[in-house]
Amino acid sequence: MRGARITGWGMALPDKVVTNADYEAHLDTSDEWIVERTGIKERRHGGTTSALAVQAARIALDRANRHGPEIDLLVLATTTPDQTVPATSSWVHHELDCRGAAFDLNAACAGFVYGLVTAVALLDAGHERALLIGSDTLSQITDQNDRNTAVLFGDGAGAVVVEATEGEPLILAHDLGLDGSLTPILYCDKGGYIYMEGREVFRRAVRATVESAERVLKQADVTAEDIALFVPHQANIRIIDAMGQRLGIDPARHAICLDHTGNTSAASCGIALAEAADAGRLKDGDLILFSGFGAGMTWSSAVVRWGGAPSAPAEPLRGGRG
Ligand code: ACO
Repeated sequence: MRGARITGWGMALPDKVVTNADYEAHLDTSDEWIVERTGIKERRHGGTTSALAVQAARIALDRANRHGPEIDLLVLATTTPDQTVPATSSWVHHELDCRGAAFDLNAACAGFVYGLVTAVALLDAGHERALLIGSDTLSQITDQNDRNTAVLFGDGAGAVVVEATEGEPLILAHDLGLDGSLTPILYCDKGGYIYMEGREVFRRAVRATVESAERVLKQADVTAEDIALFVPHQANIRIIDAMGQRLGIDPARHAICLDHTGNTSAASCGIALAEAADAGRLKDGDLILFSGFGAGMTWSSAVVRWGGAPSAPAEPLRGGRG
């Protein structure tokens, strides 16, 4: 049976720390309001989407004991490409000396899980080793003088190496969806800043993600009790708490990074996963529930089995670059 496994993970954050006190200095807001209403204490600003992507990917490749030329599929989930054309993945592909296919995927904050499902489907279709990166620099499209959005977003990248194996499937069940009629509640015009009806997004997000997560649990024939780690999109701690409560997954099993990253959009699930894996919170066979949601409005859920059969030894890939 053709399966897949995650063999490496990594994350990257820019150096510049922006604290809630920094916003207090120039906006009508307070550390107390931000922490209580969002759970965010600080976020990082700076860098470019491609540079953060490369940084996170190098760590993931090292951990997987792989090199760029062994990668034959690169998926870059991002809402903030460095330029319109070519895809930001082109530069990342070049920097890492990858081979084969590369493309950008924009499913907003649901992007990492959309990317994971896409990468695994292409491994099933014959690719051997995928590099999935979620990378975003939302500070570039956030009005730093708008208290409704400025305090929420940060920059960063998370990456995983996913390899085809002879063994267990990586994804037990997935659910990807979109309600395009909700575009007006969260969008960013070309050259503009993010506009968001926060309360409405909040309400919709909880409903859509809980329903989606329930579908994948059922499809995978597992219960919330079987989930070792819940890796939700990191937008607001109150959304995550509400989801956990409705699904029956206690906070001890949540992977949380938003307190020090803010909402890093397509990167957030990758960063939360990398931090949890680095902290030794995952062991072979553990089930992970991923959940994303974002502009579109998109949502994405997947039940993933961590670890599994060892990957096949590297073989030279056919053909040259490209
Ligand atoms: N500091 C102080 N007050 C603030 C701030 C702030 N930073 N931001 C908003 N307020 C005010 C509002 O102006 C409002 O004042 P008013 O009642 O006088 O109008 C009051 O606080 C309450 O506003 P609400 O919007 O009801 O506050 P809420 O508790 O809903 O929190 C928040 C707002 C944090 C935006 C929340 O709604 C939220 O997290 N929404 C979801 C965001 C999200 O998940 N986005 C994900 C997708 S992002 C992507 O895809 C790119």
